Amino acid sequence: MLKHSVDNRIFQGLREKMEQGLLPQWIFTDPHIYELELERIFARTWQFLAHESELPEPGSYVTRWMVDDPVLLVRTNSGEIKAFLNSCPHRGTLLCTADFGKKKAFTCPYHGWTFNLDGDLIGVVAGDKVYGEEMKKDEWGLRPIPRVERYQGMIFGNLDPAAMPLDDYLGDMKWYMDIILGRSDGGMEVRGLPQRWVVHANWKVGLENFAGDPYHVQTTHRSTVELGISPQDPLYAGYGHQVVLQNGHGINVITATAPGKPQRPPYQGLPQEMWPMFERNLNADQLKVFAKTTVFVGSIYPNLSFNSPVHGSEGHLHNYLNVRLWRPLGPEKIEIWSWFLIDKAASEAYKEAAYKGYVGSFGPSGTLEQDDTEIWARIVHASKGHMARSKDLSYNNLLNYLMGLERVLPDETFPGPGVAYPTCYLDAIHRATHEYWLELMSKEEESAGENGCES
Ligand code: FES
Ligand SMILES: [Fe+2]
Repeated sequence: MLKHSVDNRIFQGLREKMEQGLLPQWIFTDPHIYELELERIFARTWQFLAHESELPEPGSYVTRWMVDDPVLLVRTNSGEIKAFLNSCPHRGTLLCTADFGKKKAFTCPYHGWTFNLDGDLIGVVAGDKVYGEEMKKDEWGLRPIPRVERYQGMIFGNLDPAAMPLDDYLGDMKWYMDIILGRSDGGMEVRGLPQRWVVHANWKVGLENFAGDPYHVQTTHRSTVELGISPQDPLYAGYGHQVVLQNGHGINVITATAPGKPQRPPYQGLPQEMWPMFERNLNADQLKVFAKTTVFVGSIYPNLSFNSPVHGSEGHLHNYLNVRLWRPLGPEKIEIWSWFLIDKAASEAYKEAAYKGYVGSFGPSGTLEQDDTEIWARIVHASKGHMARSKDLSYNNLLNYLMGLERVLPDETFPGPGVAYPTCYLDAIHRATHEYWLELMSKEEESAGENGCES
């Protein structure tokens, strides 16, 4: 285990650099780091699988991935949602090859074993004749994903049976999820299918971009300013609060309004007839924050992000929720999964108009989306050489995460939980997220040290 002994030395130096707001460029592209991330982060933390509206009735199913683990998510006859490894326990082939659908049972395409919605093996071709009567079918059901839990309709899975409960893992993020997902009666629903596309980027770059980077908006998305869609004020995406939460999570609560300027339409421009629902479903502090917010954008560690923006012009404003999963396909590649969610209680005309706004902006062919992913791919291109890859921390390859460090102090008057800073142009979430990354990555330092002589 040579890589473990090498990594331990690197981690010791890293902590100190991170405290100074510095991060080496190689953490984004190093293949050994990536292998270790799969083991120490993705095999232990909660990963998003689906929204419950994607599984509307018994027999509904979707297929998903937890990095390289294929997952079959099913609503059973009793209405429960179960998740299995989408791999036949006979010889391991992919059991279900469709993205979604409705079935009474799943039959394997290789030798025809059949499983019911609860994952039980119910049919074996030529059963007793080839295996004998002693074949114990109840021992050969589908293998369940060790943990499946949900919050506000969002279903998460965890490969670690001993992981902390999802409720604890999300912590104070739940307060903000209540606003974003639980504000209206009936909650949110997914419209259409999740769109997917592959980008040459590291998963941490997508995470960073949504978690704490409103700073890029004025430059990367400059064309929207030139077209008059976004304001000229270079600070506009910074107005509001950046909130650092536990376990690597973070959210930007953006007002997009300069102090002293007239406030934008309340509640993200949502129709006034929906406001009484917000008052029913949220508490006074949540309402206070929601009323002033134009955009919520953030990330749930490790690879789930969300963006709840407002599109359109006065009188025709639309808000929706775009949920993003950054599925790693290697150190330099991700498959982006993008869901469109909308308030179930909104009118059909509103939902349709908001969906069009999403497709034109953050969908795979949307103008804003293309701006970002092009830049992320260039990070990979620029990080492969000797200078970027050198593990010598005194070498000049440390990137700048200094914005606001020791200069911007928390705003104690902010009504929401977490450590809230009075601007979104800040690297506070980035620093906290990468510190959590380091905490998870260095968890097995001691036992790895014992194996350090192996090579
Ligand atoms: S691999 Fe599925 S039945 Fe043989
Ligand atoms: Fe962007």
